[in-house]
Amino acid sequence: MNDQAEALRKLVKQHSAQYNEEKTKFISVTSGKGGVGKSNFSLNFSIALQRFGKKVLVIDADIGMANIDVLMGTSSRYNLYHLVKNEKTIWDIISVGPEGLHYIAGGSGLLELVRLSDDEVNRFGTEIMKLQGHYDYIIFDTGAGLSKETAQFITASDETIVVTTPEPTSITDAYALIKMVHSIDASVQFKMVVNRSGDRSEGERTAASIASATKRFLNVDLPSIGNIYDDPHVSKSVKKQMPLLVIFPESDAAKSIIAIAKEYLNIPSNSSSTGIKGFLHKLLKRTR
Ligand SMILES: Nc1ncnc2c1ncn2[C@@H]1O[C@H](COP(=O)(O)OP(=O)(O)OP(=O)(O)O)[C@@H](O)[C@H]1O
Ligand SMILES: [Mg+2]
Repeated sequence: MNDQAEALRKLVKQHSAQYNEEKTKFISVTSGKGGVGKSNFSLNFSIALQRFGKKVLVIDADIGMANIDVLMGTSSRYNLYHLVKNEKTIWDIISVGPEGLHYIAGGSGLLELVRLSDDEVNRFGTEIMKLQGHYDYIIFDTGAGLSKETAQFITASDETIVVTTPEPTSITDAYALIKMVHSIDASVQFKMVVNRSGDRSEGERTAASIASATKRFLNVDLPSIGNIYDDPHVSKSVKKQMPLLVIFPESDAAKSIIAIAKEYLNIPSNSSSTGIKGFLHKLLKRTR
C-alpha cells in the first residue's frame, strides 16, 4: 500500500511541477463511521465552490456504491469501472450533473471492484493525474473507514476532510481513522467538518475535543472548517434526489455549507461571490 501511495504521490508532484501555475487541489472527504454525511457534504460543498467561481470535479470514490448519482437523481453511462478496466479514458467517464457540476460516478453493483488490483490503482492514478490543471478542486467522496483504496486516495490527496457528527461513536471513529492514517503517512493534512450539530456551540465543542485529542496524542493539527446544522431538509433532498443547495438553498444546512465554502476560499463575509458573478453583484449593489 505504501509503495502505491508513494508512486501516486510522486506522480502528483511531477505533474504539480509541470503545471505549477494552475495547480489542482485534491481533497479526500472521509469519516471513521459510516452514514455521517460525507456524500451530501462532498456534493453540496462542490456545488458551493463552483458557485464561487471555482472549477470542481467530484469523484464518487466509494467504488461500487452509486452515492453521487443517487443523490443527484442521475445515471451515468460510464464510471470508474470503465476506467480501471481500461475500457474508457478519464475524459470519457466525466459526467455533468445539476448546475453543470462535473462528476465521476463510482458505478453500482460492482462488488469485484471494491478491491482494486495494483495495476488498476496505477491506471486510476495515471488517468486522474491527466486532470491536473483542468480543475481548481477535485473532491474524492470516499467510503467510511480505512479500506486499502481509501488509504490510497487519502495519502495521494493534498488535504483530507474528516466528517464527524457530535455523537460519541462518530467522534471516536473519526479519531481512530486519523490515528490509522497518520501511522501510514504522517504528512497527511487533515481538516474537520462537524455535521448534524444542534447548534454552533455543539459543533465547536465537538471539533475542539477531537482536535485536542489528535494534538495531544498524535501531534496532529486538526483545524475545523465549520459546522453543518442538523436539518431535516437534508433527508428531504436525498428523497427528492436533488442536491440540497439546489432544492433547499435557504435551509440551515445549505447556508452552513455555503458559509464553509466561503470561509474555505477566504472570501470576505460581505461579498456573495467571486469572479464575474461577484463583480456583477457588487456593481448592481452600487448602482441600486
Ligand atoms: N446535516 C444533516 N442534517 C440531517 N440529516 C443529515 C445531515 N447530513 C446527513 N444527514 C442524513 O444522513 C444520511 C446519510 O448521509 P450521506 O449519505 O451523505 O452519508 P455518508 O457518510 O456518505 O454515508 P456512507 O458512509 O454510507 O457513504 C442522509 O441521507 C441524511 O438523511
Ligand atoms: Mg457516502
